Amino acid sequence: MSGSAKRSVTITLDGSNKSVSIPLIEATVGTPVFDIRKLYGDLGVFTYDPGYGGTAACESKITYIDGDEGILLYRGYPIEQLAEKSTFLEVCYLLMEGALPTATQFKDFELGVMRHTMLHEQIREFFNGFRRDAHPMAVMCGVVGALSAFYHDSLDIHDPASRTISAFRLIAKIPTIAAWAYKYNCGQPFMYPQNDLGYAENFLYMFHAVPAEPYKVNPILARAMDLIMILHADHEQNASTSTVRLAGSTGANPFACIAAGIASLWGPAHGGANEAVLKMLAEIGHVKNITGFLSEVKDKGSHTKLMGFGHRVYKNYDPRAKIIQKACHEVLSELGIKDDPLLDLAMELEKIALNDKYFVDRKLYPNVDFYSGIILKAMGFPTSMFTALFAVSRTVGWISQWQEMIADPEQRIGRPRQIYTGAPQRDYVPISTRG
Ligand code: ACO
Repeated sequence: MSGSAKRSVTITLDGSNKSVSIPLIEATVGTPVFDIRKLYGDLGVFTYDPGYGGTAACESKITYIDGDEGILLYRGYPIEQLAEKSTFLEVCYLLMEGALPTATQFKDFELGVMRHTMLHEQIREFFNGFRRDAHPMAVMCGVVGALSAFYHDSLDIHDPASRTISAFRLIAKIPTIAAWAYKYNCGQPFMYPQNDLGYAENFLYMFHAVPAEPYKVNPILARAMDLIMILHADHEQNASTSTVRLAGSTGANPFACIAAGIASLWGPAHGGANEAVLKMLAEIGHVKNITGFLSEVKDKGSHTKLMGFGHRVYKNYDPRAKIIQKACHEVLSELGIKDDPLLDLAMELEKIALNDKYFVDRKLYPNVDFYSGIILKAMGFPTSMFTALFAVSRTVGWISQWQEMIADPEQRIGRPRQIYTGAPQRDYVPISTRG
């Protein structure tokens, strides 16, 4: 671990003569961590932290979040600056390489990614195996996992060149897989990628175009797509990223690890929330029903959540939600949508919730998913595609974190411990003698 340990705490176990010195590792910015690795060896105890709310599972230099202040940095750069000035592919380079590229480095990188956008023709056959109404995330889990059967030449995770080519392949092919999952779903022909288009533009082309007529991607929508991708590119050790790291710690190949990440992202408490927000808004239906809906949310017995609100780390406004709310207005105006009832409903819901004691006391603010569904719907995406789009954008974050983990000399297989509260050892009783 690179942080220096100058402070420490000594723990002595009551009723024993055992004690251990626990060093405190300082972060460059943010919360320091206790290095508890000697705790079990010296004291014979584990730590207990369900949901890992207070546990750092790795050292990382990629993304920093200050949840109290609502700050998000990629490699030190504020998300607001990247959203305004950068592009998704440049952010990909930044996340993977740790620095902004020079013009030449960017050109090489762009070429490196964009020349891998096509899928092996046999992968087309995988799509035919799914029911037409399969959820795009189910298709993506399956097809991304299946990529490991096609690229035997790049599966040596200890070879940096293999890791890089796998990273390029994953970032390049994931939009094609997502667009084809949609095309299969609605029975339209698959559109092949156009490598002379920008990354987000090419995705919109594969998604919206049909072979029967020419299709020109609206540059404002391409920029909005690019922005959405930037905002979702990485978010430090969230559930899906931790899943990728855990799968990767066993030595599993990167395609299998990203498929695991996609599966983890799918849940409504994580990436599936954007889809759930739109369903929730449709169910509320009208501003007059907001108060009744919030009463249900506050009733513990109902298990109803205000989707798109709350976050494990942010106890303030999610900075991505602010950016996406602004983009929402721009996109709707570009599309000539003057009054969007869903946006109006969402903004009223946000206003009421932010002034409600339940949400104020618990520091529950809108997260990135509260507004992303509205913008994606206006751009012509069905709700079932929302989480798939999140997976497309997050692939670079997953692969950067996976790369960082593999290169980390302290990397070990991820293997949490437990506190066992089941039956102590007992003897087997034959069924004939059980009472
Ligand atoms: N609606 C109502 N109550 C909520 C919400 C919500 N959206 N989120 C948290 N709470 C309540 C909890 O019930 C709990 O109340 P209590 O103290 O009375 O028991 C309190 O706020 C603290 O919440 P936790 O569940 O402990 O927070 P946790 O960090 O475990 O969960 C999570 C975070 C999963 C994001 C949660 O806020 C949630 O389910 N939100 C809705 C789903 C969502 O929008 N997910 C997207 C997250 S962002 C992303 O993945 C891209």
